[in-house]
Amino acid sequence: VRELVPGATRVALVTDARVGALYGEPARRALRRAGLAVTVLRVPRGERAKQSAELAKLWRALAAAGIGRHDVVVALGGGAVGDLAGFAAATWLRGVAWIGVPSTLLAQVDSSVGGKTAIDLPAGKNLVGSFHQPRGVLVDPALLDTLPARQLRAGLAEIVKVGMATDASLFRWLERESGRLAASEGAALELAVRKAIRAKARVVTRDEREREGGARTALNFGHTLGHAIEAALGFRGPLHGEAVAIGMRAAARISVAAAGLPLGSCARLDALLDELGLPRRLPRVPLARLVVMLARDKKRDASNVRWVLTPEIGRASVPRSISSRLMRAALLEAGARA
Ligand SMILES: NC(=O)c1ccc[n+]([C@@H]2O[C@H](COP(=O)([O-])OP(=O)(O)OC[C@H]3O[C@@H](n4cnc5c(N)ncnc54)[C@H](O)[C@@H]3O)[C@@H](O)[C@H]2O)c1
Ligand SMILES: [Zn+2]
Repeated sequence: VRELVPGATRVALVTDARVGALYGEPARRALRRAGLAVTVLRVPRGERAKQSAELAKLWRALAAAGIGRHDVVVALGGGAVGDLAGFAAATWLRGVAWIGVPSTLLAQVDSSVGGKTAIDLPAGKNLVGSFHQPRGVLVDPALLDTLPARQLRAGLAEIVKVGMATDASLFRWLERESGRLAASEGAALELAVRKAIRAKARVVTRDEREREGGARTALNFGHTLGHAIEAALGFRGPLHGEAVAIGMRAAARISVAAAGLPLGSCARLDALLDELGLPRRLPRVPLARLVVMLARDKKRDASNVRWVLTPEIGRASVPRSISSRLMRAALLEAGARA
């Protein structure tokens, strides 16, 4: 912190109950030793943190802690903590510095890279947010030792996404190492984190603000449907990464029909996701509800929803709409109820 934000005297350490119980005390002590005044701020676990009410609480807590323009917010936790604390930092005093200490695999490889911060509304995920790059991100693979296996698998889904949509050699590496990754082998995971961060950073550097049709849109592969699944189930269904896995399988099927993805490549994606223990089919969701949520996610009508398709492994095309016949077929195949 001293190096990244030299002027800071106070730190707001934002974390949730579980991560705080595991790592909050050592983190607080380390910051104290560096001569900083630390206030620990607890937020609810998981997606519940990303609510406007929680953001408002955080603002008031930042005021009470006396966090000034030269001070810093540290987000210790998963992507939910990072998105909320990052957005609080983006808005507090029109923007103060923040540092990410991601503690889930998903947060280490995905949400902590790229500077997107946001909260949810009942109308959909990430509807209010901003781009606010952290001053730095501290990735400690040892934090993953306490992460439940299911959370770990959900993080692997985002690594598969980066490979499938932007980096064929990463995809092939994942295929070779899938056994070790599925078994949560530390060395393989650490290398996967390195490779995924490098691949995502490459994309984000080319297109920081996600221009219309820019390179960064590729990273939404699997997310059109993934977000709709999460919203349709009121964010109490599958984990984000699990929903994205189902979304990627559907997007690959659509890619075969509409973007020339070879059937064999679609099968390779399915096999890799299977190997990593990621779900194939939706929990019981009515098709009509999914279609409504698809449209709502980006405020378009359903026929205008843009899909990121992959003409080949490692490359995504500019997002585009597809026929509603094709979309319905893909959703039914993914397990939606007619
Ligand atoms: N900003 C971005 O670019 C971006 C990208 C992808 C996802 N996201 C967001 O990230 C969020 C999902 O993040 P997530 O998957 O990290 O989930 P999360 O932040 O909800 O954390 C999941 C659970 O794991 C627990 N946990 C975290 N670290 C742990 C550890 N080391 N040991 C034991 N338990 C631990 C947490 O307490 C929580 O209960 C979503 O809101 C998604 O929208 C943002
Ligand atoms: Zn994601």
